[in-house]
Amino acid sequence: MTRRLVIDTDTASDDAVALLMAVAGPDVEVDAVTVVAGNVPLAQGVKNALFTLAFCGAAEVPVHAGLDRPLVRRLGTATDVHGEDGMGDAGIVRSVGEPVAEHAVDALVRLANEAPGERDLVTLGPLTNVAAALVRDRDLLTKYRRTVMMAGSPDSVGNVTATAEFNVWADPEAASIVLNAPGEKVLVGWNISRRQAVMGPAEQQRLATLGTARARFVSDINVKVAEYCRTVTGLDGYDLPDPVTMAVAMRPELVRRSEKLPVSVALGDELRGQLIIDHRVAGRAGASAEVVWEIDEQGWKELLFAACSED
Ligand code: BDR
Ligand code: CA
Repeated sequence: MTRRLVIDTDTASDDAVALLMAVAGPDVEVDAVTVVAGNVPLAQGVKNALFTLAFCGAAEVPVHAGLDRPLVRRLGTATDVHGEDGMGDAGIVRSVGEPVAEHAVDALVRLANEAPGERDLVTLGPLTNVAAALVRDRDLLTKYRRTVMMAGSPDSVGNVTATAEFNVWADPEAASIVLNAPGEKVLVGWNISRRQAVMGPAEQQRLATLGTARARFVSDINVKVAEYCRTVTGLDGYDLPDPVTMAVAMRPELVRRSEKLPVSVALGDELRGQLIIDHRVAGRAGASAEVVWEIDEQGWKELLFAACSED
């Protein structure tokens, strides 16, 4: 069965790896890439998405530019994590092609409505575009088969603040709108990234041994993230939040343990972007998302290595 994906991304280094995995997937078709401001300003994210798709031989995938700032907050980028260009400042990103004219929000609404139940939505950035699309079409997410999101930290260990994950922190109001919308939602949070999606020394060595252009690309664009992990988050290597999310979207059977839970978002300044999860039995009736607690680590990493094996 071919899985048809629409990918919403604030394209920086780990988003780029996720795009690479999706277009390399033999039974995956990427119907559109929609870009949102987040890791980098919108124009840079669009440039990175176009470059990455062209680099992977998938220049035909349409790239739609979306919203250039969060719904309510000021844009706070993550160039300290991913580099000024979002791609590790490795000097490899060139301008390639142009985005299509259709706005990302229009594309998200059109793609859901023209073939309800046929596509999956994967979100790799702040949820601004998706929330704006939901304002237009409240049932939007019921028309995607499911929405797999790199969003939040269900165990409240943060990467951008002590308790918040970047994508939810960047636009918490948008995340709140999305979590409250009807439709099947799967959360792959920073709990998974920091435990089961770290490229440690052995994995970095395996990537280097592949010796392909794609393997070098993955390694080069993540140099800044590796530095951030060493100095801020304290991981032994660099984590790949968006690629592990893409792996779950491509192969749902990689999920080993998950729970349907009521998830909401803290909007006050002190705990901005922290996920609030009601674990009480009484609260579970209002479950809003499937929270992933454990995945098949070796399985998803094999998908990554397979994607990097081709040149
Ligand atoms: C998320 O934020 C960004 O830094 C990454 O691209 C990922 O989507 C991780 O918190
Ligand atoms: Ca991202």
